[in-house]
Amino acid sequence: MKFFVDTADVAAISELNDLGMVDGVTTNPSIILKSGRDILEVTKEICSIVSGPVSAEVVAMKSDEMIAEGRKLAAIAPNIAVKVPLTWDGLKTCKVLSSEGFMVNVTLCFSVNQALLAAKAGATFISPFIGRLDDINLDGLDLIADIRTLYDNYDFNTQILAASVRTVNHAKDCALIGADVMTAPPGVIKQMANHILTDKGLEQFMADWAKTGQKIL
Ligand code: G3P
Repeated sequence: MKFFVDTADVAAISELNDLGMVDGVTTNPSIILKSGRDILEVTKEICSIVSGPVSAEVVAMKSDEMIAEGRKLAAIAPNIAVKVPLTWDGLKTCKVLSSEGFMVNVTLCFSVNQALLAAKAGATFISPFIGRLDDINLDGLDLIADIRTLYDNYDFNTQILAASVRTVNHAKDCALIGADVMTAPPGVIKQMANHILTDKGLEQFMADWAKTGQKIL
């Protein structure tokens, strides 16, 4: 499973990228707001750090304007994936931009039928939001599993980019279900390294090592 980082925090992206943990980056208007940066500038900077796909989202509601915004965002760098919402206008935009050879990430997906339409419109990525389904007492991971079945049934090339990943268990389950990609905040990716028995075991090893009186360096 590929790891995308769901942030526009350049320092956090760099830290994870240096560890080989970053296969791509996703942003959205809320993330740009949080960064306090200009969308074109920060996206360009991210693209200079990360070689994989960097999603940048259009904000127009009508397809003509979405397409124009998408072309402008795509001009930032060759690894831009234009992010469009899963609306009828977003699907039209997806079809046009993917036909022009651009990567397109269709976002705000909450149903299997939406994922089916996105694949037929040529989406490179479909972004089902796990956490936001969980928020309303539905099961976001069920949606990931259902889209996996759908895409495998018909050999769609669209990659499942599990989004709104809030916990380490979301990350684990996405990997077990077979999501192609998950995008998560840097904190969730770092938490994946934690285990209470690792901490406990290390504490014991360090205590015993101190008793040996030895040094390695
Ligand atoms: O990738 C989508 C993500 O940014 C949304 O996450 O936690 O706001 O639902 P969240």
